[in-house]
Amino acid sequence: MKDFVTDTIKNLPPSGIRQFFELVIGMEDVISLGVGEPDFSTPWNICEAALYSIENGLTSYTSNSGLLELRQLISKHILKRSNVRFRPEKEILITVGVSEGLDLAMRTILDPGQELVIPEPCYVSYAPTVILAGGKPVAISTDPAKGFKLTPEELEAAITDKTRAILINYPCNPTGASYSADELEALAAVAKKHDLLIMSDEIYDELTYDHKHTPMVMCPSAAGRTLYFNGFSKAHAMTGWRIGYVAGPADIIAGMTKIHQYTMLCAPISGQVAACEALKNGAPAVEKMKTAYHRRRNFIVEGLNEIGLNCHMPEGSFYVFPSIRKFGLSSTEFCTRLLTEEKVAVVPGTAFGQCGEGHVRMCYAVDIEDIKTALSRIKNFCSRL
Ligand SMILES: Cc1ncc(COP(=O)(O)O)c(C=O)c1O
Repeated sequence: MKDFVTDTIKNLPPSGIRQFFELVIGMEDVISLGVGEPDFSTPWNICEAALYSIENGLTSYTSNSGLLELRQLISKHILKRSNVRFRPEKEILITVGVSEGLDLAMRTILDPGQELVIPEPCYVSYAPTVILAGGKPVAISTDPAKGFKLTPEELEAAITDKTRAILINYPCNPTGASYSADELEALAAVAKKHDLLIMSDEIYDELTYDHKHTPMVMCPSAAGRTLYFNGFSKAHAMTGWRIGYVAGPADIIAGMTKIHQYTMLCAPISGQVAACEALKNGAPAVEKMKTAYHRRRNFIVEGLNEIGLNCHMPEGSFYVFPSIRKFGLSSTEFCTRLLTEEKVAVVPGTAFGQCGEGHVRMCYAVDIEDIKTALSRIKNFCSRL
């Protein structure tokens, strides 16, 4: 049989996280600070709402755009947070996680060869989904000395006549960096000047610890040119339910819905029912989980700095991104040796872009006792380097 796999797919690099975690499979007594997933189960009231809906026979497709009730609740939720109203009928689409929303957006806005600007280090799926959509990802390396925050000057310098959009994620996976309202407005002003779309992935917005999260859609220069991505995976501990959403200009949402209706049809109905319950009654559980993450963040940052791994305080998400530069190992060598010698799994910074070299990502959405043990193993390891 001939080779049916396209060159595009052959040339697509495998995820640096998955590749690394192949090593973990089969190893015993490993503490994993690797995968970015809450250690909490979905709050019971949310599970119960879904179970009850199944008992009542809600097992069908929904509208392509998603349950109207869920879109109405999302519209209210965004309005409360940002004072911006998205019409549930035309400006909100329910997707299979933020992952599908991002993919639909890339395929909707990019013609072959058009560019999408992405500050790095960033979430692993961004560049591959741009490539799969036929576009060209343009990475901007952010500076650790500036807290890995994109500056308007860096954004300006990356824009060409092929640039269609900028994709920003805050609080950021993997660095935890976030932005003030003024910083966001300065970035949005550059996008407006060049008539670019802003894609804003705010999946960790609820997990912002020291200040209030500012949604991009609130910035005057971002008004009407922003696709806002959010979902239920992280703050509500609902990774397996696969529910996300996108709010934005009606014509782009209509384009995305076209692809979604032919490929996904709709997001799973039980997940959508669960998401309704999360928005109606989920706030106390989110607050409780956030308090736990906040405590763990302070604990792990203090512990890492004590060991001598220079670690800035992340403003949000559930990751830390300490520097390992002083040990003279590449981030992949550091992670491979830490795993084999001390059985602690963390992710090489290069999985999130070349400028992640010299750093590793640790997810602290794990039990605090495991964080304590991991820190003591990391200390042993570093003392030998
Ligand atoms: C920044 C970011 N965006 C999107 C996703 C995907 O989320 P979902 O589970 O909603 O597809 C993740 C998951 O880790 C993420 O870190």
